[in-house]
Amino acid sequence: MDYFLVKNIHSTAALLTITLFTLRGVWMLGWPHLLNKRWVRVVPHVVDTILLASAIIMLFLISLNPLTQGWLLAKIMGLAAYIVLGTVALKRGRTRLIRLGAFIGALTMFFYIYAVAFARHPWPL
Ligand code: HEM
Repeated sequence: MDYFLVKNIHSTAALLTITLFTLRGVWMLGWPHLLNKRWVRVVPHVVDTILLASAIIMLFLISLNPLTQGWLLAKIMGLAAYIVLGTVALKRGRTRLIRLGAFIGALTMFFYIYAVAFARHPWPL
C-alpha cells in the first residue's frame, strides 16, 4: 500500500472531520433539529473511522510506535481531548453556555492537533 496515498486520505479525512464538526456545532447552537438528519448521524462516524484507520495504517507502513514519538503521543492525547470536548459540545453539555465553551475548546484542540501534524513536534508554535 502506498504511504503517500494513505497520508493523503488521512489529510483529506482530517479536513472533512473538522468541516462536519463545525457544521454540527453551528447547527447545535442555532438549528438543533437539523442534527437529527440521518446522514448527519452516520457520515461523521464514517469519516472519523477513515481518519483513525489511515493513521494506524501509516504507523504500520513505517513501523512506528506512536508511544515513542512525542508528537504522535501529543496527537493521541489531543484527539482524546477533542473527542471528549466534542461530545460535550454536541450531546452531553447541559446548558447552551457549556456546549458553546466545549465547542470552542474542541475547535482549539483540533487546530493544535493539525499544527502538531505539520510541525511533527508537540509544541508546534
Ligand atoms: C483529529 C485527529 C488528527 C488530525 C486532524 C490529523 C491530521 C494530520 C495531517 C493534516 C497530516 C498531514 C501532515 C503533512 O502533510 O505533513 C497528518 C499526518 C500524519 N498523522 Fe495525523 N491527524 C490526526 C490524528 C492522528 C493520529 C491519532 C495518529 C496516530 C497516532 C496520526 C498519525 C499521523 C502520521 C503517522 C502522519 C504522517 C506524518 C508524515 O509522514 O509526515 N494522526 N495528520
